[in-house]
Amino acid sequence: MDPNVEKIKTASLNSITLATTPQDLETVRVKYLGRKGLISQHLSQVKTKPLEVRGAYGKDLNQIKKEVSEALAAKAASLETDTPTRPTLDVTLPGESLPLGAVHPIRRTIDEISEIFLELGFSIVLGPEAELEYYNFEALNMPVDHPSRDAFDTLFLQSGALMRSHTSTVQIRHMETTSPPIRIIAPGRVYRPDTVDASHHFMFHQIEGLAVDEDITFADLKAVLTIFAHKYFSPDVGMRFRPHFFPFTEPSAEVDISCIICAGKGCSVCSGKGWLEVLGCGMVDVNVFKAVGYDPERFTGFAFGMGVERMAMLKHGIDDIRLFTDNDVRFLDQLR
Ligand code: DAH
Repeated sequence: MDPNVEKIKTASLNSITLATTPQDLETVRVKYLGRKGLISQHLSQVKTKPLEVRGAYGKDLNQIKKEVSEALAAKAASLETDTPTRPTLDVTLPGESLPLGAVHPIRRTIDEISEIFLELGFSIVLGPEAELEYYNFEALNMPVDHPSRDAFDTLFLQSGALMRSHTSTVQIRHMETTSPPIRIIAPGRVYRPDTVDASHHFMFHQIEGLAVDEDITFADLKAVLTIFAHKYFSPDVGMRFRPHFFPFTEPSAEVDISCIICAGKGCSVCSGKGWLEVLGCGMVDVNVFKAVGYDPERFTGFAFGMGVERMAMLKHGIDDIRLFTDNDVRFLDQLR
């Protein structure tokens, strides 16, 4: 073989072996097999060669051309299978889980309870948490120095206003600006200077209820609260209305439900009594109507107030009120 042809053969095949990308291969192809490539150039000179070597020279060149073409194709194929393909999206991999927030159990309980009263025709009304003494006490039939105020230990503000100790304040604010018929519930925060323990907190939530119209009776109160307890707790929960005293209702009652843990048999949750106190209620006191300028001869009404934390604790078997404000996700997650 002609030494030049031999050189081309070795060099081209070496270049193909060393190529690592399709681009390398293309460079080699152009260099040797391109129109102006080395092999093509030599082929075009075959006719200038002396007659006696011309045949073998041309044959060698064509043989090399064939080998280089084959080597290029083989290398191209191997590059294709060897080259790691660009990483694509593997939809079968488990997704990245982002911690999902959830509605706080107190908010959820308020929503759940509100839903029941909304179905019964009540609307939601809100009132301020920083209140005047008048709305927290006087207008609710608790005159200054009246001993009934003691039951509602209060956090006073420097201005002389206070943090409301119950949501009954909203009854007054709403009646002052609205005429009967009234059917409202008022959820919100209340504050008391209580030492924090498993069942007390200086801040908790209540839902107040008020219905005022011309012929509202205690039977309406019982009906509404019974429907509520059956929907919120369970259709077969027992109920009892125990006579009680509240300054703003007359007559007043405390409502108990049969213990949802022991079904009334007596257990540690109900302290062996078989009953759990859930709320206070009664018929709106005449003095409350007088305070808001309603005619007590014409209108009657009922009111009730319940603790939201207590409702959630009873329903979900939570034994410590502090859990609601600890912000421990392990607790909050369970009531999702
Ligand atoms: N305001 C009372 C409290 O905080 C709860 C309450 C009792 C509200 C009887 C009422 C009611 O409207 O009629 O303990």
